Amino acid sequence: MAEVQNPFFARVWPVFAAHEAESVRALRRENLAGLSGRVLEVGAGSGTNFAYYPDTVMQVVAVEPEPRLVAKARAAAADAPIPVEVTSVAAEEFSDGEVFDAVVCSLVLCSVHDQVAVLRRLRALLRPGGELRFLEHIASAGGRGRLQRLADATIWPRMLGNCHTHRDTERSIVDAGFEIAESRHEWTLPAWVPLPVSELALGRARRP
Ligand SMILES: C[S@@+](CC[C@H](N)C(=O)[O-])C[C@H]1O[C@@H](n2cnc3c(N)ncnc32)[C@H](O)[C@@H]1O
Repeated sequence: MAEVQNPFFARVWPVFAAHEAESVRALRRENLAGLSGRVLEVGAGSGTNFAYYPDTVMQVVAVEPEPRLVAKARAAAADAPIPVEVTSVAAEEFSDGEVFDAVVCSLVLCSVHDQVAVLRRLRALLRPGGELRFLEHIASAGGRGRLQRLADATIWPRMLGNCHTHRDTERSIVDAGFEIAESRHEWTLPAWVPLPVSELALGRARRP
């Protein structure tokens, strides 16, 4: 059982998420644009994405293993414009015996223990041709990459729910058997701000 208990992170994340810059919200909307059918959202946190699903989505099944965040996600689900069911399990354990038209990952693949194993599991839950939508912070080059490695080896994952800042997530997506159809990198803060999580990859990948 992949137990996830992050009481400190569960307290601070909803505050961060409620104060996100409009530019990040625009990336969230773009990550969800054009989705339809039945969607699996992985690691929903406090449910920030729910408000941005287009009404072509029939149902969102959201998994969130951190018990304090499940409660927040359920409250957000009640206000969502489309039906959202929140399930209190980790991605590694989720199975509802059905396949999904799309899987959404946002700011979560940094936190799972084994990225490729989780992505393989998600691939198996998608119908052939189904899409993985991702908005994830990623490994940067140069000095910021060194800062990320230092952050990952010290306090960052311990304080922030196992978040690892220096992951080559696009490589893991390919290694798990997806085909990346498009991906681009965005900066959420000016490049000079010394934060290890300001470079994001936004993209879509397909299950062949
Ligand atoms: C940084 S938050 C992002 C929340 C949300 N996806 C968003 O975009 O606002 C990462 C979330 O992933 C969840 N998480 C961590 N490990 C997980 C796992 N193995 N399966 C599913 N969710 C997980 C955490 O509990 C947390 O809510």
